[in-house]
Amino acid sequence: MKLKFSLLTALSAALLAAGCSTSPRSSQYDPETEKKIENLLGQMTLEEKIGQTNQLSCYFVPEEMAQVLRSGAVGSVLNALTPEVANQLQRYAVEESRLGIPIIISRDVIHGYKTVFPIPLGQAATFDPELVEQGARAAAVEATAAGIRWTFSPMLDIARDPRWGRIAEGSGEDPYLTTVMGAAMTRGYQGNGIGDPTCMAACAKHFVGYGAAEGGRDYNSTNIPERLLRNVYLPPFEESVRNCGAMTVMTSFNDNDGVPSTANSWLLKQVLRDEWGFDGMVVTDWNSAGELIAHGFAADEADAARLSLTAGVDMDMMSHTYFNHIADLIRDGKVSEKQLDDAVRNILRLKFRLGLFDNPYVDPELSTRVNYCEEHLAAARRCALESAVLLQNENRVLPFDPSKIKRLLVTGPLADAPYEQMGTWTFDGEASHTVTPLAALRETYGDRIQIDYEPVLAYSRDTATPAELAALTARAARADAVLVVVGEEAILSGEAHCLGDLNLQGSQRELMAAARRSGKPVATIIMAGRPLTIAEDLKNTDALLYAFHPGTMGGPALVDLLFGVASPSGKTPVTFPMVVGQIPIHYNHNMTGRPAAGTETLLKDTPVGAGQTSLGCTSFLLDAGFHPLYPFGYGLSYTTFEYDEIALDKQEYAADDTIRVSFRLSNTGDRDATEVAQLYVRDLVGSISRPVKELKAFARIDLKAGESRRVEFELPVGQLAFWGLDMQKRVEPGAFQLWVAGDSNSGEPIPFNVK
Ligand code: NOJ
Repeated sequence: MKLKFSLLTALSAALLAAGCSTSPRSSQYDPETEKKIENLLGQMTLEEKIGQTNQLSCYFVPEEMAQVLRSGAVGSVLNALTPEVANQLQRYAVEESRLGIPIIISRDVIHGYKTVFPIPLGQAATFDPELVEQGARAAAVEATAAGIRWTFSPMLDIARDPRWGRIAEGSGEDPYLTTVMGAAMTRGYQGNGIGDPTCMAACAKHFVGYGAAEGGRDYNSTNIPERLLRNVYLPPFEESVRNCGAMTVMTSFNDNDGVPSTANSWLLKQVLRDEWGFDGMVVTDWNSAGELIAHGFAADEADAARLSLTAGVDMDMMSHTYFNHIADLIRDGKVSEKQLDDAVRNILRLKFRLGLFDNPYVDPELSTRVNYCEEHLAAARRCALESAVLLQNENRVLPFDPSKIKRLLVTGPLADAPYEQMGTWTFDGEASHTVTPLAALRETYGDRIQIDYEPVLAYSRDTATPAELAALTARAARADAVLVVVGEEAILSGEAHCLGDLNLQGSQRELMAAARRSGKPVATIIMAGRPLTIAEDLKNTDALLYAFHPGTMGGPALVDLLFGVASPSGKTPVTFPMVVGQIPIHYNHNMTGRPAAGTETLLKDTPVGAGQTSLGCTSFLLDAGFHPLYPFGYGLSYTTFEYDEIALDKQEYAADDTIRVSFRLSNTGDRDATEVAQLYVRDLVGSISRPVKELKAFARIDLKAGESRRVEFELPVGQLAFWGLDMQKRVEPGAFQLWVAGDSNSGEPIPFNVK
């Protein structure tokens, strides 16, 4: 996708059509490397080959790992915690094993290593891939200084169900946004590729469909037909692997249509290797080879190893099935040594690409120089600032005017919860380095504003008595304004932390109501790993900033937004449901035969004894309609924006044309701010029913108060291609509509044709 301004402003969203051309592609066989691989492979015993496929967690002290490493029985170690340990483990492998093959040290570095960035869902809300790339780069610089050369990120799972706790770890519901953000992370992690000691191999995961777990329960089965898989779930992986050179891919835990990913040879061979030309390495998820037995797909461990290796999995994470059974399987003729050799080639290629043979060690002093360095903290702060979404601002209560507030009451369990605000998957971030909103308020405004703090609730599930709530109301009444910080603790989202009820936990709703009863202006920040069902809570606050879990620098970033140092610019990366019963709800659903029209009779108006008829009926819920609380792509600012003069350069396009959409964007308010302009398309008639809207481009545009600017999106017609009835990917000629707007539910359609 290319985008340009008539004012020649360089912009960040020019991504997809350009692919990841600035980033090195790993998927190119280098003859020299291949020669080295063959040479080494020729010297390896069967046991040493099997050892390369074995990934172990560093549960033991390094001395206890010594024996396995010296014997060449392990190819990769997860979770070595310090540079000293990393060096020690490498020494056993490189200096004391027969062939001196280095190990790859890996870890879940998901949204920062020491400097924690917002959770990936929050990062997606920035709609700022350049910033997301910087975040991944910072993570790679810090993690590689500790000897970690392989991260299990980006998570590219499309998630349309916020009950699923892992929605926090991805970019939300949209294939395009997930593709762009996944590409940015891949580039950021892998840096300049081979020879760059700060290059950390990315791992595109979880391959594939994992986010569609039935009922939002983690690890559950999925039932995604191939066409949907190709149109929605596979594109982020294809981009990351094919155009950005992601060096590794992780299979997912789920079975799709009965076939567990870890044994899905169609997926791993036909799609990944043959269609996309992937020459990197495939790893299982933790024990997912062993879990083929629990799936009822493998009879026993040997069978599980046979099925995974045969399907195309190179490395086994922690099931030990490869280590324990491959030799026998080869001896019995159930798998061939060539299958094993191919897996080992892919593993060795990764090690060569990472430069591990030349330089397996790290400088133990480096960590102290790069961890929490100013550059990383500044990027994390900016990312937290851009990721917060302003969902409500009644009476323009925000931004607070520091000259008018003498006393501010701060309440809520997340106002000063440094560990919780880092969110899920932060093994290495430290609460002691995290700045909370309360700390940032005291630091920045403590000399001018009396900051009164009463959390009332110690954590999100805590409860308060009526007397405690009444005391809070009285205290709030003595302040000039109230800041409430509520949400979810980190542990309530992420892996295996799924919920059936998405309302605020504990007495948080009552706490908001108690603050509201004071009659003072109330601003609320929600920190959470998912969109919560907050329709009722909106009544208890003037303003609402949705911050996701904002990471190390969340406090200063949010305080800047509260006091108008910057205007909010985040947009929802996922639809916010009114109630859990609406889930799954996503903006890009297919056109149905009876679409909801907004004129439906809801439960409260349904007469007792009414006769049944299907005439005029549509797709909606009697008690929850069909409107979400907030659509995808939504977010307010302290200013207002207007889109007009939207025009296409032509009415009809050929398949190889580029559509040029120009429009005027105006900042019609009194503050400088940034708007995320979005381009959506609908294909009106296809060989299959198509989504009502699909995001095809976006751009962050900075405008001064009162400024107008002409902006142009360029959309290659090829980007309208999809997998149709005949399972071919192509653009189908016909009528289309296009919107340019500030969210997925605004704007007027503009027609065009493709011939
Ligand atoms: C299980 C998770 O599903 C995966 O995302 C993670 O990378 C591995 N464990 C390793 O910790």
